[in-house]
Amino acid sequence: MDNFNKAQEIVKKYHQEHLLKFYDKLEEDKKNQLLEQILKTDFELLNKIYEDVNKEKSTEDKITPISYTDKSKLTEEQLEQYRKKGEEAIRANKYAIVTMAGGQGTRLGHNGPKGTFVLKVNPEKSLFEIFCDKLKEVKEKYNVVIPWYLMTSTENNDATIEFFEKNNYFDYPKEAVKFFIQDEIPMLDKNGKILLTEEGLIKQGPNGHGGIFEAMFNNGIVEDMKKRGIEWVFIGPVDNPIVQMVDEVMIGYAIDKKVLAVGKSIVKANPSEKVGVFCKRNGRPSVVEYTEISKEMSEETDENGELVFGESHINCNLFNIKAIEKIGVDKLPYHKAIKKATYMDENGKIVTSQEPDCYKFETFIFDSFGKLDNMEILRGKREEEFAPVKNKEGVDSPETAIALYKAYYNIK
Ligand code: UD1
Repeated sequence: MDNFNKAQEIVKKYHQEHLLKFYDKLEEDKKNQLLEQILKTDFELLNKIYEDVNKEKSTEDKITPISYTDKSKLTEEQLEQYRKKGEEAIRANKYAIVTMAGGQGTRLGHNGPKGTFVLKVNPEKSLFEIFCDKLKEVKEKYNVVIPWYLMTSTENNDATIEFFEKNNYFDYPKEAVKFFIQDEIPMLDKNGKILLTEEGLIKQGPNGHGGIFEAMFNNGIVEDMKKRGIEWVFIGPVDNPIVQMVDEVMIGYAIDKKVLAVGKSIVKANPSEKVGVFCKRNGRPSVVEYTEISKEMSEETDENGELVFGESHINCNLFNIKAIEKIGVDKLPYHKAIKKATYMDENGKIVTSQEPDCYKFETFIFDSFGKLDNMEILRGKREEEFAPVKNKEGVDSPETAIALYKAYYNIK
């Protein structure tokens, strides 16, 4: 059976016949692309996710606060001891970094991969250049080239690589930098129909940063890490110019406590800050995302007036390679977001939603924490850890990030 017939059978079986309705009108290469997309799509999984979409979220999960260690309350002796252990691991080439750079940055309104966003400081630097400078500093200090893996998406992979090539990897050794692409998942309309792009292809988006483990296995990244003898992997965001990519104390702390992972937290600024918070879910480490926390829970305070759920997750987590293997390639749960989108409707008309009415599905990296028996939370200082660049204006915008960046580096 040829690919067209195979695709036709599939769409019929899953009641997605509209996907091939405009097939004849497509250009030859687009026709092939569409067939490949259909053959690659996991329709069973999509059905299952869609079924779950309208179910009430399970309220059976027991969410309780999680304990943490406050880095600023450690004694000089403890700090020194952890720092030394961390340094030893770095010097022994056991440390690697993964940057999650697959997000679309729609909120920021930046045209291009988020890491290419230029921070208007003196001298002006893109986020990627800032990270390279940090890595070069560490290279100088320890005479070690830390392997750096960047997770991109189908949409921004080529542009990301091009940017690094054009800038000669900002003089960081090119052979230490590897790119890998995260998977995608189709978007659905409210009736569970897969959306088509304006060109008539399946409309897909990155499957969320929870897809990182699967992508690391499928693209030979874990294998590469193991070949290099990597034991500790920091997985961090692209949208934070002061992210501590190399925190010796955090690494040493993980080694000393013999845990499989350490999550970096900072104190939540206020109950409505848009950050997830670390917690225990049915007794296991987890995060309640800001989109999913109740008002009551976010406002609860303890006897000292501190937020009970106040350890913000800033997407800075350290994993032992064994933790990554343990998490493995199993799919993490999908969370839904309802978004506006431009798509081709069932009559071939291009429409743009006026109100959010399309489902986008994403997995979250922190849903992997529950698979780990032991994980510690290390609280850092906001001003040394977190300068998010998320929105075009206002909160967590380039303006606020620049101010925080300047204060951190003590520049004018
Ligand atoms: C995220 C966290 C939130 C945390 C906050 C801190 C999630 C779901 N929530 O919120 O708990 O408190 O940051 O800043 O992450 N990314 C990919 N691929 C994807 C999606 C995202 O690589 O498919 C990357 C982004 O490029 C970025 C990071 O993951 O580096 C965070 O993603 P984003 O979707 O912007 O998360 P937030 O909603 O800001």
